[in-house]
Amino acid sequence: MKLSALTSLLGLAALTTAANVVPRDFDANDYYVLELDAQTSPVEVARSLGLRHEGPLGEIKGHHVFAARKTEHDVVKRELVQRRRRKRDLGARDTLDGVLFSSKQKLRAPWTKRIIPPRYGPFARKDNAQAVPEAVQKQSHVATTLGIADPIFKDQWHLFNPVQVGHDVNVTDVWLSGVTGKNATVAIVDDGLDMYSDDLKDNYYAQGSYDFNDKTSEPKPRLAEDRHGTRCAGEVSAVKNNVCGVGVAYDSKIAGLRILSKLISDADEAVAMNYDFQHNQIYSCSWGPPDDGKSMDAPGILIRRAMLNAVQNGRGGLGSIYVFASGNGAPSEDNCNFDGYTNSIYSITVGALDREGKHPYYSEKCSAGLVVTYSSGSGDAIHTTDVGQNTCASNHGGTSAAAPLAAGIFALVLQVRPDLSWRDMQYLAMDTAVPVNEDDGSWQTTTIGKKFSHTFGYGKIDSWGIVEAAKTWKNVKPQAWFFSPWIHVNQPIPEGDKGIAVSFEITEDMLKEANLERVEHVTVTMNIEHTRRGDISVDLFSPNKVVSHLSTTRSPDNVEAGYVDWTFMSVVHWGESGVGTWTIVVKDTIENKHHGTFTDWHLKLWGESRDPQKATLLPMPTEDEDDNHAITSTITAPASTTTIAPDPAATNTQAISIPSDHPDRPVNSKPTGTSDAPLPSATQDEQEAEPTKSTWLPSFLPDLGVSASTQAWIYGALALIVVFCCGLGIYLWIARRRRLRNNARDNYEFELLDEEEAEGLATGEKRGAAGGGVGGKGGKAGKTRGGELYDAFAGGSDDEDDEFGGYRDRPVDEVSPRVSEKRERHGGSDEDEEEEGHHVIGDDDSEGEDEEEGRPLRR
Ligand SMILES: *[C@@H]1O[C@H](CO)[C@@H](O)[C@H](O)[C@H]1NC(C)=O
Ligand SMILES: *[C@@H]1O[C@H](CO)[C@@H](O)[C@H](O)[C@H]1NC(C)=O
Repeated sequence: MKLSALTSLLGLAALTTAANVVPRDFDANDYYVLELDAQTSPVEVARSLGLRHEGPLGEIKGHHVFAARKTEHDVVKRELVQRRRRKRDLGARDTLDGVLFSSKQKLRAPWTKRIIPPRYGPFARKDNAQAVPEAVQKQSHVATTLGIADPIFKDQWHLFNPVQVGHDVNVTDVWLSGVTGKNATVAIVDDGLDMYSDDLKDNYYAQGSYDFNDKTSEPKPRLAEDRHGTRCAGEVSAVKNNVCGVGVAYDSKIAGLRILSKLISDADEAVAMNYDFQHNQIYSCSWGPPDDGKSMDAPGILIRRAMLNAVQNGRGGLGSIYVFASGNGAPSEDNCNFDGYTNSIYSITVGALDREGKHPYYSEKCSAGLVVTYSSGSGDAIHTTDVGQNTCASNHGGTSAAAPLAAGIFALVLQVRPDLSWRDMQYLAMDTAVPVNEDDGSWQTTTIGKKFSHTFGYGKIDSWGIVEAAKTWKNVKPQAWFFSPWIHVNQPIPEGDKGIAVSFEITEDMLKEANLERVEHVTVTMNIEHTRRGDISVDLFSPNKVVSHLSTTRSPDNVEAGYVDWTFMSVVHWGESGVGTWTIVVKDTIENKHHGTFTDWHLKLWGESRDPQKATLLPMPTEDEDDNHAITSTITAPASTTTIAPDPAATNTQAISIPSDHPDRPVNSKPTGTSDAPLPSATQDEQEAEPTKSTWLPSFLPDLGVSASTQAWIYGALALIVVFCCGLGIYLWIARRRRLRNNARDNYEFELLDEEEAEGLATGEKRGAAGGGVGGKGGKAGKTRGGELYDAFAGGSDDEDDEFGGYRDRPVDEVSPRVSEKRERHGGSDEDEEEEGHHVIGDDDSEGEDEEEGRPLRR
């Protein structure tokens, strides 16, 4: 008894010092993650709240884990709210003022592995009789020269393909040049890694490994199905010996982080995603939300913070490299932009290609997919190491097998250039990818002359090409970004061929102010209310009319919701300047009883800075950062409520008359309120709005013509005394045209409105919105200004609820499809806790707290 207690105590101490990972007992305890400001001591906070301080949360600064006795409630939130209430009366400083964020943890189901659906396996092995003799010769030459005696090397067509010559990762000459992954380390975040396999043990990196499911330092596969991680590891780092095959980077180090085999908390996953991130350079992740064509899920706030932390502080500040499998949901019309990991700007999303160079039926497409590489299909799969001392796998596949192959190739790159940043790696992958199947109709030429396909990204990775390019790569300058304000639309979306197009003009001055030189990633955060999510599609057109299919329809997606602050991502606009008019086109593609409203959207350009001296680090994300719809000074009325259409016929008598060329005009605080135009909230008006609008129109082209054209100009001028003028031009017009699903770029020859230029945002607002400040303060400043704006408007208006309040006051349940979707996934258990685990304090009103009390807790 005594002895075992001592042993466990020692074990605990060892773990704590070695890994900062403390085993959790969710049966007995509740766990909370709190973010504290620099002045606040976790010990005092623990005392004050009656909790036990368990230690810091991995590598995320200021975040601590606390344990409490198990209860149904969020005791931290309750206590904080009560203190705040008391404090309002007493006014004294309290320790708990230093609590910036709190999240009650909950165990949730692990993410889904990207294995091939079983119904498609097993594989009939290709008959190598058709091999090209010269290729076979070269293969033996490589093996002899490098001393590869691995028995299944000949089956590893993805490394060297003697049958379909050229359909491999083109790595053998890279090896012959001495580049085999030396000094590079890849962590496989998965269901374990058999560190005792003879094919892995020599490359196993113990210090970077941990089992977050069973809380031990060895990520050993324990369940019968725990084979996935080991197979992935073999693809990267199987040792060159006489066991199975070799990894693409067979001299690299390989670590295992086990998270997929049991229930897990966001806090533990966050720690895993940062684990030993000064040495684990690349994190290979072949999992995510289910590929069922109806899931729409993203990592919780702590995991998102961990990933941002990793790109800012991992690898000595160069940034951890996250590689994610695009997903296997293509047969269910799934799209990797509905997955918050693959559509993160911090991950490299990798799709699959089969041994004949074809698109495998399962591999998901999306505008966030950067590259593809080889995996199962056309009768074969990936041959690699398996669990067991000397066991090989011949049926590894799905995008699960593509991501680690890419991760291994990036390890080769890091051997040559360990100084590359996470963004340098993305640039190199984009720049050196080789287009495949160029005549399949999926390719468009981007502004910088690259070819992009939503199916294949920029093409397949070529190991030789990327390693060679890396040798002379000039590191890019730090990241910068430009955020548009929220652009309010509030228009019903016509069904069928029609759509709503809304534009936003970005000027050179705006980007100068934001210190942004050229675009890498583009993200669009948006809100759509709808009764059937799968009916919606969203396209984004850049000023150069390059198109990103941000969202595509998904027939299985029956979820009775639209998008709530969902962020889509695109890598299609890589290299563009960003200047000009960006247009988003939202469609409700199917004529049925389901319909919806396009509420608002928010455009963000991310890319290389102009002046590196002025570059700053992005503040940590907050759960509600995109909730603050009041941040914009500009409110756009529905198209039918404003004038200034280029087409005089489109000028509606009911419009508010706003001179279009006069940015200094005082604000009209509530365009929607002052207008008697149909508001989207009234169903009857909605139905009438369509015919009414049609009558303004002259006869026009059947499908490419603009059916109604409007433009809204609203100016935000703030306080009565303070000079705070905000102007923004937003063009709205409704386009009607036939929906052509493929290569829509050619089919969207709409003209951008040219009659007026959008005004730049007022300097202060833009700086806030663009996050120009330092650390968390920049974001805070922006928010504060937003809040002021909001109040200013509210003072002069009596329908704020329609414009803003409707959002902020709605219970989380109604607002977030992510939450409801997640519940569905987890069997609907314990909804209350689920919610709390994913939202900051004050974000839900389940305890009847008002906005005032919730707000100070937010950052
Ligand atoms: C590995 O890294 C160490 C330290 O960064 C360096 O001294 C060594 O030369 C590297 N070795 C190889 C083979 O690149
Ligand atoms: C593949 O590697 C060879 C060197 O082995 C190189 O000459 C060739 O250009 C590479 N292929 C591509 C597409 O870069």
